[in-house]
Parts: sequence; structure tokens; C-alpha cells
Amino acid sequence: MCGIVGYIGTKPASTLLIEGLKRLEYRGYDSAGVCVCRAGELTISKDIGRVMQVEQQILADDRFATATVGIAHTRWATHGEPSKANAHPHFDGEGRIALVHNGIIENYATLKQYLLGKGHTFLSETDTEVLVHLVSEIYHDGAKNLESAVQAALGEVTGTYGIAVMCADEPDKIVAARKGSPLIVGVGTDEYLVASDASAIIAHTSNVIYLNDNEMAVFTRDGMRTLTIDNVPVTKEVQQIEWTLEEIALGGYEHFMLKEICEQPEAIRNCLRGRVDLRDNRIQLGGLESVGRELVKTRKIVLSACGTAWHAGLVGEYLFEDLARIPTEVEYASEFRYRNPIIEDGTVFLALSQSGETADTLAALREAKEKGALVLGIVNAVGSTIARETDAGVYIHAGPEIGVASTKAFTCQLVVETMIALALGRRRFMSQSTMSRYLIALAEIPDKIEAILELSDTVRQVVGEYIDYDNWLFLGRGYNYPIALEGALKLKEISYIHAEGLPAAEMKHGPIALIHEGMPVVFVAPRCGTYDKIISNIEEVRARKGRVLAVATEGDERIRQYADHVFYVPDTLAPLQPLLTVVPLQLLAYHAAVARGCNVDKPRNLAKSVTVE
Ligand code: M6R
Repeated sequence: MCGIVGYIGTKPASTLLIEGLKRLEYRGYDSAGVCVCRAGELTISKDIGRVMQVEQQILADDRFATATVGIAHTRWATHGEPSKANAHPHFDGEGRIALVHNGIIENYATLKQYLLGKGHTFLSETDTEVLVHLVSEIYHDGAKNLESAVQAALGEVTGTYGIAVMCADEPDKIVAARKGSPLIVGVGTDEYLVASDASAIIAHTSNVIYLNDNEMAVFTRDGMRTLTIDNVPVTKEVQQIEWTLEEIALGGYEHFMLKEICEQPEAIRNCLRGRVDLRDNRIQLGGLESVGRELVKTRKIVLSACGTAWHAGLVGEYLFEDLARIPTEVEYASEFRYRNPIIEDGTVFLALSQSGETADTLAALREAKEKGALVLGIVNAVGSTIARETDAGVYIHAGPEIGVASTKAFTCQLVVETMIALALGRRRFMSQSTMSRYLIALAEIPDKIEAILELSDTVRQVVGEYIDYDNWLFLGRGYNYPIALEGALKLKEISYIHAEGLPAAEMKHGPIALIHEGMPVVFVAPRCGTYDKIISNIEEVRARKGRVLAVATEGDERIRQYADHVFYVPDTLAPLQPLLTVVPLQLLAYHAAVARGCNVDKPRNLAKSVTVE
């Protein structure tokens, strides 16, 4: 997804901007660019491909060396193909105003017609170039200064944006604004940074300001002003970023995805810390205290999310119905937002999102809020838009997740759902002894995942035998049905192998036609109420000469008769099984992608944070 960095201070801007862009690379992009202002002139370098290519161009151009103010961007194409012309920053017609933009200007076609009528010509297919021309038109039509021109232009815009703008005629100034696309300001000594993501800033300062929708910031060498897009001054609080640079770096692993898979025990410990009280046999979720009374009266829960977070929601449906006895629905956020959902009294809407910036999830949340639901969030990114727009919520504290494939955020989302379900269940009907069993089992999960991680080499070897198969099936039942879906999603998104996840019993209603000799079929089959039934499903696959890879419970010798390979996980209570059974599947996807030479952390066509529809 697109990334923005801006800098004004005393250091060489291009060095900081390139460094910031490199830290944003994990978000996914197809082109990059940098623009600096020096001696009243804007100088730009942009290209398709990697940030490194732009860096080389900059190093060979003396005009970049001494500039101390600039803006930069990584682009993930939405309007117009990935190309040098479509890369940001974009200029106005005279090359005197430069702008970088995340988001989508929905009415760009209308604005473009208007500007064409005024004599503007365009060099790209982007909506962003239309915006910078609009700013320029207003600027030259008598606007007081750059910020006034930006305000007036944004007043004409429908859509979403995070922008940073510079003007050669006001050389020591950057104007930034946001609506629907995140922007964070780093406050350093004699310097300011602005970025779409904290990782681009954190090497320089941990003091930050989060801009809200419809807010803007004007940076000059004398300081910073924050105001609304309607020109009302706003006082913003400087906050501390919790994450260190080391946390963001690879830490000795070959890929972020593997690092993040292996971080799960620690991430879950962090997630449980201070919340599970074994001594008093209770769960304390500070983030939900303000809505505690309303929560007890919950009549229905609607879980909404996208991708992996949606799979976490599916597990949540089982958890909330099973442990708290509350009717629960799971909705794709992209569908919920447009289908005029019925929200009755007592409905709690729960948005799940690692990034807290996913456009569909955010829109679904706003729709639920508009219709009167109590809106809660289970989010990783502290201070993200979803986190700020919910009535209350619980951070998962998984730490930064850099790999595009979500892993530790998924398991931490499950942990938070489990804690909420237990807390609600206990307040409604659950006995002390049942609660105690769950809390003890939950506290044991990190150690159990540590044991599963030891399987990594075995999984790698097994996967090696199947690496040339282009079609896989993943099957599970009950709590492990969503894990089958998640296993399939992980495999397809990073190794580009086609994989389908299904409830195991559904196979005979159609997909069984796919089974042929040698086809790998993964069964998520820990000991549970439907174990015998899933063994029957395994036999159906074997009868058609499919190859069976099973995730099973330690000590289950019976399954060896049916499966070609077994990945054992420790025993636990059924509602907690997904926390364990998903781990071998994450490793399977990882090793398959490595074996196929794929770009594990930045798979093709994918972005870490999907902030457009
Ligand atoms: O940041 P979010 O959790 O809201 O992201 C939702 C999905 O885009 C995300 O889970 C996506 O499916 C991942 N690539 C899955 O690994």
C-alpha cells in the first residue's frame, strides 16, 4: 500500500526520506519517488521498481545533497498502471508545487474536466496529479498561502487522502492533511517528520502526533501548526511510540514472516499479561471497562473483518456462542458495509484488524456505529484509525507485523476473543471451576506453541515432497474449520499455490471431484467431538489416492494409519485448539514459499495494509 514520508529540519532530507521509504517497503509498492526543495527550486527523482533505484539516482545528483526539506512516496497502483509517470510525487503544470498522496480522489474525473477547461495538461493517469493541479489553480487564483490553497482544494474533493505538499515559492514549508488515510507526525529537535506509518519515523524520534481525519499540519522551520481542514486551530498531544526500531528489524531471521511465526509465544504472553489473573480466577480487560455494563446485556455479536482477521472472526463465532452463549454472526467487512445490515438493540459490533486501517473494516464499523451498535475493536496498531473510532476495545499487543502474511496478529486476535468470551461467559453463567480450567489452559498456550515451533524442519522436509503440486485442499471441522481456511489462505498468498479451505464434511458435496492420485490434502484433525467424523473424511480422500497431511493431537497414534504425514500439536481444550493447530500450517506455507523461491514477506500483488476499497 502507498507510503508517505516528509522531512523538514537541518539534516540532508533525501537521506532521511530514502531511509523512511525503505522502512515502508514492507507495505508493498510498485514505484517510489522523492522531491526536495532547494534554493527555491523543486527537484524530483522517481521510478518504478525498488526504492534503491531512486536512491541511486539521488546519489548521482548533487541537487539532492544539501536540501533539508522534502517529501517522498511509495506507490501501490490504484489509478493507472505502475509507471514512472504515475509514480509520486506529482507536480503542478509549472513544476512549482509537489504532492504525495495515499488514498483515492473519487471525483477526480470531474475535477480533471474542470482543470482541462482551465488549460491544465496532465502527464499521468493518476487522481493525485489532478489534486496537485487543483491546489495550483487555487494557489495562483489568489490563495493567501499554500495551506489555504490546500484547504480550498480539499474542500472540493470527494474521497480519501493522506497528503504532503510542498511549494517552491514557500520553500521552507510542508503542508500535510488527512482524511481516511493515516498520517503521523514525528516531533524531533529542530525537525519534523510526517509519515503514513510510524516505522518511517521511529529511527529519529519516538515523540509523535497522530493526525485525525479532517486535520492538517503546517511545518516550517519555526515550528508546526495543527488545524482542521476548515481552518480551525487544533491542539494535539505529543505521544510516545512504544515500538523500538529493533522490534521492527529482522532480528536474525531470514524473513519477517518466520520471525513473526516464532514470536507468537512472546506475543501471546504480552497479550495475556495483566489481563489473565490466575490467582483471582478472572479476566481484566481495561479497554472494555467503560462499556462493561452494556456488554453484559449483549444480545448479539457481529464480528467483521477482512482476510485473516475474518478467519479470526470465524473462530470468534464459535467462541462467543460456545463460551458466552451469545448469538454471533461473522461478516466480511466489504459486504457488511453495503448491505443495509439490521442492527437491533443489544448488538455489539466487533471489528478485527491488525493494521487498524483496513478501509472496508473501517467503513463497516462506521455503518454499524451509524445504526446504533456498540462498536468495539480488536486491533494491533495502537492509535490507528479503527482503534480511535471504536467506542472501546482491546489491543492485541502483538508488536509490529511486517510480513504481508498475517501470523502473530491472528493468534493474538484469537487470544483476545477468547478472553472476551470467557469474561462475558463468566458474568453470565460460567462456573468458577470452568473458568479456572480455561485460564490455566490459556496460560499454557505460549509454551505449547514453542514446542510446535520445533516442528519447523520436519514441516520443511515434508513440504519439499509436495512442492510441485499446484492444488491443495485444507479441511477441518468445528473450531478447526476456520483454521483450514486460514491454512489455505496462507499457502496461496505467499507461495501462489492454489489452495481451498473447507469444512471437512462439505468435501463430499462437490470438491471431492478434485481429489486425484497424489493430491495433497491437509486435515486439521486434533482430538475433539468430531474426531471420528474427520477420520471418515480422511478415508474418503485416501480411497481416491489423495495424500494426507494431518495436524493431530500428540499421542494420537490411530491417525498414523490414515495419514501420510502427521504434525503433532499438544493437547488443549477444544476452544483453544486453533491457537495451536494454525502454527504448523503457517510453517507449511512459509516453507512452501521459500522452496518455490517466492518473495515471502512481499508477495506479488499484495499489500500489508489495504487502505483502499
Ligand atoms: O490489517 P487487517 O487485519 O485489517 O488486514 C486484513 C487483511 O487484509 C489481512 O489479514 C490479509 O488477509 C493478510 N494478507 C492475510 O495474511
